[in-house]
Amino acid sequence: MPMRDLNGLTVGITGASAGIGKATARALVAEGASVVLGARRLERLEDLAAELGAKVAVIEMDVRKPQDSKRLVEEAFARFGRLDALVVNAGIGAYGGIMDLSDEQLVTMMDTNVAGTVWPIRAAVPRFLEAGGGDVVIVASVAGLRGAGDEAVYAATKYAQVGLAGGLDRELREKGIRVSTVCPGGTATEFAMGAGRTPDMPGLADMLRPEDVAEAVVTVLKQPLTMRTLLWSMRSIKEAD
Ligand SMILES: NC(=O)c1ccc[n+]([C@@H]2O[C@H](COP(=O)([O-])OP(=O)(O)OC[C@H]3O[C@@H](n4cnc5c(N)ncnc54)[C@H](OP(=O)(O)O)[C@@H]3O)[C@@H](O)[C@H]2O)c1
Repeated sequence: MPMRDLNGLTVGITGASAGIGKATARALVAEGASVVLGARRLERLEDLAAELGAKVAVIEMDVRKPQDSKRLVEEAFARFGRLDALVVNAGIGAYGGIMDLSDEQLVTMMDTNVAGTVWPIRAAVPRFLEAGGGDVVIVASVAGLRGAGDEAVYAATKYAQVGLAGGLDRELREKGIRVSTVCPGGTATEFAMGAGRTPDMPGLADMLRPEDVAEAVVTVLKQPLTMRTLLWSMRSIKEAD
């Protein structure tokens, strides 16, 4: 089967103001897709829109608020008349042992990573059902497959995403909705630097690049509609266990 042509499709992306989401926006526009970009830092989204041109719409949104996800979906229809896929990418990490982080840090992370995955999907699914199909690609993590030291609660949020995707695949596949999970290892973004690294540290150069993960997301979306990618786990060749 030939790969699917993304030209003319519209894709919503959460967390598009930085890192993997931003790289995914660039990669999708290069494929001819239109994108609707959501994040809290609107100025960053506007800068990206100025770089990428007319095929880009932006909205200021917080994935913890269900209404904001509905606005993202509405914006896709208002600007481009359709929504074909959703990349659920926004997420945050907090590092430390189970007793090291504050209650507030943990609540914010669980809300952003778990509820912030559910709300955009709930906003898009009714439209996908009306259209007879659609794609959801969740950017989870290898931490959601095998846990990770010093980030157990983060790993729990990523396991939640993988579990959600497995359940949704069973629920929605027959209705034409493909739900895929991309699980990257360490990726050189601001998120990774939040772990105490700085841009000049050698560890960062050995990580995946956000463009690598973006390429995986694009490849998942390009699969012919006769098949679905359930889970793509990827790590830098330099990353040990
Ligand atoms: N970097 C890694 O090593 C790595 C590895 C595996 C998986 N991941 C996953 O990849 C995804 C993207 O991470 P990244 O590395 O690209 O991090 P990043 O560079 O820090 O970007 C995170 C993005 O999420 C957005 N975001 C955070 N909280 C949000 C909220 N409440 N509402 C809306 N947007 C929000 C941020 O935008 P605003 O701040 O402007 O809202 C930003 O655009 C995350 O889900 C992360 O768990 C990352």
